Amino acid sequence: MSKFFVTTPIYYVNDAPHIGHAYTTILADVLSRYHRTAGDEVFFLTGLDEHGQKVKQAAEKRGMTPQAHSDDLAPRFINLWKTLDIQYDDFIRTTQERHKKIVQLVLQQVNERGDIYTDEYEGWYSVAEERFITDAEYGSGQFRDVKKIKEKNYFFKMSKYQQKLIDYIQAHPDFIRPEHRKNEMLGFLRQPLGDLCISRPKARMDWGIEIPFDRDYVTYVWFDALVNYISVPGYGSDEKKFKKWWPADVHLIGKDILTTHCVYWTTMLFSLGLELPNTIFAHGWWLIGETKMSKSLGNVVNPLDLIETYGVDAVRFYLMREMVLGLDANFTPDSFVKCYNSDLANDYGNLLNRVSGLIHKNHDGMVPEPGPLAPVEEIIKTQADELPRRVKDLINGFKVQEAVSLIMVFVQTLNKYMESQAPWKLAKTDMKAANRVLYTAAEGLRIATIMLAPVMPEKTAEVLDILGAKDAPPVWGKLMPGLVLRPHSPLFPRIEVEKT
Ligand code: MSP
Repeated sequence: MSKFFVTTPIYYVNDAPHIGHAYTTILADVLSRYHRTAGDEVFFLTGLDEHGQKVKQAAEKRGMTPQAHSDDLAPRFINLWKTLDIQYDDFIRTTQERHKKIVQLVLQQVNERGDIYTDEYEGWYSVAEERFITDAEYGSGQFRDVKKIKEKNYFFKMSKYQQKLIDYIQAHPDFIRPEHRKNEMLGFLRQPLGDLCISRPKARMDWGIEIPFDRDYVTYVWFDALVNYISVPGYGSDEKKFKKWWPADVHLIGKDILTTHCVYWTTMLFSLGLELPNTIFAHGWWLIGETKMSKSLGNVVNPLDLIETYGVDAVRFYLMREMVLGLDANFTPDSFVKCYNSDLANDYGNLLNRVSGLIHKNHDGMVPEPGPLAPVEEIIKTQADELPRRVKDLINGFKVQEAVSLIMVFVQTLNKYMESQAPWKLAKTDMKAANRVLYTAAEGLRIATIMLAPVMPEKTAEVLDILGAKDAPPVWGKLMPGLVLRPHSPLFPRIEVEKT
């Protein structure tokens, strides 16, 4: 048995969660469930990033304090995760005391290590954007409310660890995945790495964790947020717990936060003398059609709308089935309906309907005795026997889309087998053969269902209940002849296109 510590980014509470946030969280949940089924001890961490400029601005827009705003938005995330059947082990909010004190501890330790210094920075500051802009940006004339600001700040000596980081990435091929993201980071590190400004003067931005050695400053939001990955599993508070879980097995992130994770976070860990996570996996973006999802374009997909129309499991399935991990994917209502109708209604749902329909018709719902298998069934049995191991290998390699696809190919094979064997005809001439076919299809369906359970926990539980095999392992022959199947309505009724 091994441990599996998986994290999602902690989401800014500047708006309600959208399908992009739901995607990473479902992905972490799916991986966690596969690992739990494999007997691993799992720690799945997610949460909210509640400090910083973005959250402060969002709160101001609503005329609320940042804390009240965060308290108001947090349940939207928590409730969505509940609706989506997300089984996380801990949920961090960065305004919690348990996190704040560890960020301050980290600041102290990095400071004691000699990795923090103060510097006076003078530059163009855009009040509208609330950030320093470069000379070129200033020259573009695209920024409003620009003034020259001279400001003292605290800096983290990120540059000190540049070479160490390059060497580390090169020596650990699985550290940044997929491969093209690793190359992107190595390319980025070919330029001299600057140091990181990790403070904000309270006079300008006060929504953050106070710097323990200078009360006039708060911590830069990224230096605060990244620490959640160690504050929760016990760094500085519970040595035993920390030793058990750290390093994380995988930080799941979107491609836009690659640098903060692969450069800021890793150099922070170097400074603390801690191990780096085993893998940082950056997935692509969900595009709407071909365009970026954005509030101003009005094309943000709210997962709750989809769930209401198609059900939780269909949404989880679609997201896992459609995105090749690492690449962008296009969300369109058409592709959703196509995926639903072809995989869930036609292939999976239909297999159950056919098998259970015939078992009810021919045997009063009783699972028939298979008798000795013929060569064609032996082929199916071998595929079923190999399925769990093959899925496990793909999941360990973060190939979730391929794993789902493999299971669906097996479901298609079972449907083709039913068609070619035609047990409804066989029943008239050779009842033994008809029984063998029905048992084989039902047992294949059961094993495919177990393999799909981490992706569709609700519907698969229903199918296993129908098959009277809730706790049986994915091992051929565990479906009990003589057992009566529970009557049921169609699992995934076809969506008629007009309806959408
Ligand atoms: N708070 C930071 C993360 C701190 S982690 C220590 C943050 N939050 S975020 O809410 O803006 O974004 C969270 C995640 O959502 C990022 O991984 C980002 O890539 C992801 N997504 C935002 N839009 C997305 C899509 N359209 N598609 C897929 N994921 C997207 O960044």
